[in-house]
Amino acid sequence: MNLILFPFERVIKGANIAIYGAGEIGEYFLRQLAAVPFCHVSWLVDRKFKSLGKQQQLIFLPPDLMNWQQPEQIIIASQLSEEEITEYLVSEGVDPTRIVGIRAEQKIDVLDLIQTRLSATPADDEWDAYYKLAENSAQAQYNRFIQPVLSRLEGVLDYSNVLDFACGKGRIAEIVHTRCQYLQLVDASFDAIEFCRQRFAKYSNISMQCNGTDQLPQQTSSLSLIYSWDAMVHFSYKSLDFYLGEFNRVLKDQGYVVMHHSNLGALVDNMRVFDQWNLNPAGRSRISKDDVAFIAQHHDFEVVEQTLIDWECNDMDCISVLRKTAGVRG
Ligand SMILES: C[S@@+](CC[C@H](N)C(=O)[O-])C[C@H]1O[C@@H](n2cnc3c(N)ncnc32)[C@H](O)[C@@H]1O
Repeated sequence: MNLILFPFERVIKGANIAIYGAGEIGEYFLRQLAAVPFCHVSWLVDRKFKSLGKQQQLIFLPPDLMNWQQPEQIIIASQLSEEEITEYLVSEGVDPTRIVGIRAEQKIDVLDLIQTRLSATPADDEWDAYYKLAENSAQAQYNRFIQPVLSRLEGVLDYSNVLDFACGKGRIAEIVHTRCQYLQLVDASFDAIEFCRQRFAKYSNISMQCNGTDQLPQQTSSLSLIYSWDAMVHFSYKSLDFYLGEFNRVLKDQGYVVMHHSNLGALVDNMRVFDQWNLNPAGRSRISKDDVAFIAQHHDFEVVEQTLIDWECNDMDCISVLRKTAGVRG
């Protein structure tokens, strides 16, 4: 199922244009320009129009009634007749540089696009734009959400060997590392970890590793604290189950988890929430604080506290603090 994109990059912004072709492709173009008012479509030309008509600002007419010198550019909305239309326009004295045809890169396979979106996981998604944008809000998010939790647990949390799970480019680690005797950073993105390598090169007590989708690279019973910010909010029930099992394995007894996750699953009565994380607001997964409490208890964690926080809507997220209560599970 193909969709043809309007050739935005070859049309002059704000230009007065004619679209030649009032079929399916012409419809696509008009709909895209209604959503993104990039230029003005003043004429819609097609042989199927027998006379001149007008609908709001748009004049529709057959080619022989069109004054081809008026539009700044003529956009051909037909693949089958493109050659024929171009020849006709040139024979009418139109400078070929004013004619914009359809190129291969405009063709989008919609099913492919949907399939790509539906199969994207938080680990293989593209976070580059996020990293740039989020860097500036790190201190504000820390002050508002993270610091109050850490302050409440001052003297309780042990910072001797800490893991920042799904650290991204290390914006939160940049703030938290001063508390830590040793800090390990883990992320699924190779580029993000390489960035962290440069960013924290001068600190001998910070190390970083890229993880796959299997076990965490940390040793069993080695960590005193794991925190994770703005990453597990996207995780499915199954991934949370897997990683809480892993957190239990790599934490020492009485080690803590401070984990930011979704609570969108609790809001299903107020809004539409999809099972697929990246269709939901802010990419939140359909998970509630009760789900996390249930999974955590299943993995021998005590739920010390859960604080609902507002993100794009009230109570959208939660910060759960968990304490490992038993030894490593068999
Ligand atoms: C929205 S970013 C947040 C990054 C960072 N925590 C921050 O606040 O800037 C989500 C990060 O989670 C990472 N990620 C997603 N799934 C992961 C997984 N299974 N293991 C490790 N990292 C993961 C992504 O690579 C990405 O860097």
